[in-house]
Amino acid sequence: MTDMTRTQVGVVGAGPSGLLLSQLLHLQGIETVVLERRSRDYVLGRIRAGVLEQGMVEMLKRAQVADRLSREALIHEGIELAFAGRRHRIDLKGLTGGSVVTVYGQTEVTRDLVAAREALGGQLVYEANDVAAHDFDSDKPRLTYRVDSGEHELRCDFIAGCDGFHGVTRQSLPRDALRAYERVYPFGWLGLLSETPPVSDELIYNNHERGFALCSMRSRHRSRYYIQCAADEKAEAWPDARFWDELRARLPADAAEALATGPSIEKSVAPLRSFVAEPMRFGRLFLAGDAAHIVPPTGAKGLNLAASDIHFLSRALIAFYEEGRDDLLDSYSEAALRRVWKAERFSWWMTSLLHRFPDSSPFDARLQLAELDYVVSSRAAATALAENYVGLPYE
Ligand code: FAD
Ligand code: PHB
Repeated sequence: MTDMTRTQVGVVGAGPSGLLLSQLLHLQGIETVVLERRSRDYVLGRIRAGVLEQGMVEMLKRAQVADRLSREALIHEGIELAFAGRRHRIDLKGLTGGSVVTVYGQTEVTRDLVAAREALGGQLVYEANDVAAHDFDSDKPRLTYRVDSGEHELRCDFIAGCDGFHGVTRQSLPRDALRAYERVYPFGWLGLLSETPPVSDELIYNNHERGFALCSMRSRHRSRYYIQCAADEKAEAWPDARFWDELRARLPADAAEALATGPSIEKSVAPLRSFVAEPMRFGRLFLAGDAAHIVPPTGAKGLNLAASDIHFLSRALIAFYEEGRDDLLDSYSEAALRRVWKAERFSWWMTSLLHRFPDSSPFDARLQLAELDYVVSSRAAATALAENYVGLPYE
């Protein structure tokens, strides 16, 4: 027997994009059900991004999930680029006329969103297996799924595919409906989280002949570091001491000396990829966040793009339900993709500027250094970096 329910918007995936959409729609009286493949503990424990653009922070405020963020997050007015043994500050705030970024982990954003959904009685179905989207080319789309051994069907007006890069919604579209653009980078990032004070007050992006390194943080007591590694590297091959030695070797001398080390809380390898699927809508199925596009993490854009997609999608769905308009649903894909492609360009550029590529020649390495030197010494070039890093406008 299949259990049958109905909602207005069926959301697949309880990552930041699915949770934020569900919360924003709920606040406007629009019903959602969120289907998530993983367990609640898994969703709440996942460690990923850490830098939020102002536009995303504003959305979290509108979604009424920013109280803890307002108390605990760190405001960063600049970042550093380090190369050829020296550190250079990019004054984000000064160069952009006042914009800053907020350091607050994706793990914390997810916790705040889940807490808010639960407090408002939001319907979140964890461990939903075999989720499948049907009839989204009609006006009666359906989602089917299994929990334990029970079969369920969810009838809805719209389906939001917020199920990440490996999700099911993009893959359920007809092959000829989508065009995919992709670049896979020949390296990954090995990340380590530790209960140690950050090496510096601001993030340091390091270009080094041994490979890229990033010094980031989650709080004044918790640090997040990354080093460029082989794409198929295994985190187990990196005991903490090996990681710290390699990181130290890639930092300028003063930072290497100041680095506080300690046991890792988490260590994992992430591949680097650029990917865009167009369009982001097919009939009554809308893709958002990593389900539609991936950026390499170098520009800190993945999570922020998920939020800007949800800005466009929530606005379109609210206009549909409140005013009977479908023009914003029709223009969703185009509006979201304009911003997506600019973030794709920036993330690709930051990645190309800072990493060692296996096929790069000594000439290429000198060009990288010349470009970095240009970026830190030309106000125009530094401004271009800064305005992209703090986040381009939503419209
Ligand atoms: P996701 O967070 O991927 O959420 C998708 C959700 O859908 C998940 O909960 C998943 O379990 C669920 N799901 C998947 N398949 C199904 C299914 N079949 N049925 C039901 N549910 C399903 N960005 C940065 O800016 N900086 C970083 O350092 C950074 N590090 C990253 C590290 C890793 C390993 C990964 C994968 C991503 C990283 N990102 C980073 C990118 C950033 O985390 C993502 O852009 C962001 O999580 C996108 O949010 P989302 O909600 O669209 O997708
Ligand atoms: C992080 O803190 O996880 C982080 C910060 C900046 C990036 C990527 C990741 O560009």
